[in-house]
Amino acid sequence: MGSDPLNVAVIIGSTRIGRVCDTVGAWFAAWARRREELAVEVLDLARYAFPGCYPEEATPSMRDFTSAVGGADAFVVITPEYNRSFPASLKQAIDFAYDEWQAKPVGFVSYGSGSAGHYAVEQLRTVFGALHAVTTRDWVGIDLLGDDVDEHGRPRDTDGRVRAVGAMLDQLTWWGHTLREGRRAQPYVS
Ligand SMILES: Cc1cc2nc3c(=O)[nH]c(=O)nc-3n(C[C@H](O)[C@H](O)[C@H](O)COP(=O)(O)O)c2cc1C
Repeated sequence: MGSDPLNVAVIIGSTRIGRVCDTVGAWFAAWARRREELAVEVLDLARYAFPGCYPEEATPSMRDFTSAVGGADAFVVITPEYNRSFPASLKQAIDFAYDEWQAKPVGFVSYGSGSAGHYAVEQLRTVFGALHAVTTRDWVGIDLLGDDVDEHGRPRDTDGRVRAVGAMLDQLTWWGHTLREGRRAQPYVS
């Protein structure tokens, strides 16, 4: 596998005022940064001034986002569950890019209030499949209403959670290196 670090973009999917997504994302990014072979960048959707209507031509904020997606080798999407799906802010951003997602792996950290975001993840698998991306089998799921988080919404580092993070990052790293080598060897056939 290549020795240069794998560029991993951690996408903060909720832009809601008062969200916990940034807290969950910072917690996850800190775990990912413990791995020397990963170069972790956080893409916070709340920091992009995306247009309300899909424009005829990409705006600078859309180009900034798609360029960051294009520069990444792998992604971890941090997503809440909203009405048994994922938030509109995330779908809006995903749909701004296309080629940039192709032949790259996507892992998930999901959460909900009463659920751990399973519906959100399964719907995102369908979306990323349409974009020729590969989703990891394992993900990290957090129930905000249980003992999974502290009083600030920060996930607790229980043995089970640390194992879940490790499994997802192992799979993401394997796919990330393998697909990067594949893309370098020959163009993807979309
Ligand atoms: C519009 C909306 C819909 C929600 N639907 C669900 C749901 O279907 N299942 C669930 O477990 N929690 C649901 N929740 C609770 C959220 O998971 C919880 O509010 C979480 O903090 C939202 O993430 P955020 O704070 O990062 O935006 C919903 C919250 C909102 C705002």
